[in-house]
Amino acid sequence: GPGSAPAALTVNGTTYLVGVEPRVSLLDTLREHLDLTGTKKGCDQGTCGACTVWVDGKRVLSCLTLALACEGREITTIEGLAEGDELHPMQKAFIKHDAFQCGYCTSGQIMSAVALIGEGNASTDADIAEYMSGNLCRCAAYPNIRAAIREVRDATA
Ligand code: FES
Ligand code: FES
Repeated sequence: GPGSAPAALTVNGTTYLVGVEPRVSLLDTLREHLDLTGTKKGCDQGTCGACTVWVDGKRVLSCLTLALACEGREITTIEGLAEGDELHPMQKAFIKHDAFQCGYCTSGQIMSAVALIGEGNASTDADIAEYMSGNLCRCAAYPNIRAAIREVRDATA
């Protein structure tokens, strides 16, 4: 609106100029200004993980991140994972292992899952459970999610 200078946000390799007020979250900016609705709003207060995206390759909760704090940084959302028509290996593994039911938590789970392997925090089931603990699943697909993560971990080891 008036008084808010446009911010340059780079999302999935494309830079957008968006007019956002200083207190607007990255989550609302993605969903409402950029129409990137793959990132979900669950709790909007940092407790469910549904809104997980990457900023400069590190996972963040976009509901707790101000959009303006991301200027000049590289934002990646679930829409940026596939390579053209080719799903990301983690997306394929989630499908293969039935790692979702309602699907509401899934994009956040996948963004965390890929990051987890990159962080080196997926070596054991206990590690996977611990480092995925910020991503809640009301459908309790956890065993299937862990199976998908193990498969991608082992394929990329
Ligand atoms: Fe961000 Fe729940 S919507 S953690
Ligand atoms: Fe329904 Fe996770 S698949 S909340």
